Amino acid sequence: MTNRIKSAQNALLSWYKKSGRHDLPWRNTQDIYHVYLSEIMLQQTQVNRVLEEYYPQFLKRFPTLQTLAFASLDDVLASWSGLGYYSRARNLHKTAQLNPKGLPDELSALLKLPGIGKYTASAICSFGYNQNVPVVDTNIARVLQRVFAIQKRDEKILWQKAESLLNTKASRAHNLALMDLGSLVCLPQNPKCEFCPLNEMCQGKVNPEFYAKTKKTRYEAMELFYGVFIEDDRIALVNAQGNMYKGMLELPNIDPIEEWHIGNFKHSYTKYRLNVHLYALDEAPFNAVWVDIRAFDDAPISSLTKKAKKFFYKIS
Ligand code: ADE
Repeated sequence: MTNRIKSAQNALLSWYKKSGRHDLPWRNTQDIYHVYLSEIMLQQTQVNRVLEEYYPQFLKRFPTLQTLAFASLDDVLASWSGLGYYSRARNLHKTAQLNPKGLPDELSALLKLPGIGKYTASAICSFGYNQNVPVVDTNIARVLQRVFAIQKRDEKILWQKAESLLNTKASRAHNLALMDLGSLVCLPQNPKCEFCPLNEMCQGKVNPEFYAKTKKTRYEAMELFYGVFIEDDRIALVNAQGNMYKGMLELPNIDPIEEWHIGNFKHSYTKYRLNVHLYALDEAPFNAVWVDIRAFDDAPISSLTKKAKKFFYKIS
């Protein structure tokens, strides 16, 4: 360990003590299930949304891995409704069923579980079990790319660099510090290098934007056509087709008949920019699953389908 690395580690820890996000609930728990849940939720969702809309509510409903394991997939998906990327919820449920008494504490065993990749396994080991392992998420990757002037985002090299920089005397705080540094200081655009504790050793500070090239999301426009059939306050839904919404209920896909058009709305989901067209149906689909409109919140229904609700009065 060189002196340069040691002093960078110390500067990073002092910065974290003063400026890190210490009040996030998943950083203040010994419960591995809570740590695991937070990491799954945070994979594609902003901290504030997880914090305010989902994490506490989900834990209230499913307070332990065991309650999650014994819950129905419908109930788990209903609680996940609006968060998107529903495979996360399906994998969470499967993992709970495989480990109702608690998650393994070995990286290699965690990696075998559904929905747990290298980042999540390492995060559970570091933040949950306090083990001496490096962690690399997208924020940490950007910090490392700049500090070590790594031009191409090569996973293997990034994990090696994370390992070489790891402060083995305080690895948990070190990893959290790098994560916060990435999201508060070492920003993709206009990083605040003057506040950075790693400024001295950073090889990328002359041209930080150069090291922050991320793949541009390519949005895809899509037109969707759904049918609405309501009887006695119950709506005819069907099991979602395809993998994206697997396990969820949705409106039946139809071939549109213009005279029966009842409304249009726009919706964004992952990379899709959807234009949704709704039509009245004159009969229920043969494979209908009937859901009471007043109980929408308890059913596994995506926010797209929930958005359609405001048009239902037009036909009921
Ligand atoms: N703290 C621990 N894991 C985190 C994450 N994935 N995002 C933000 N804060 C975290």
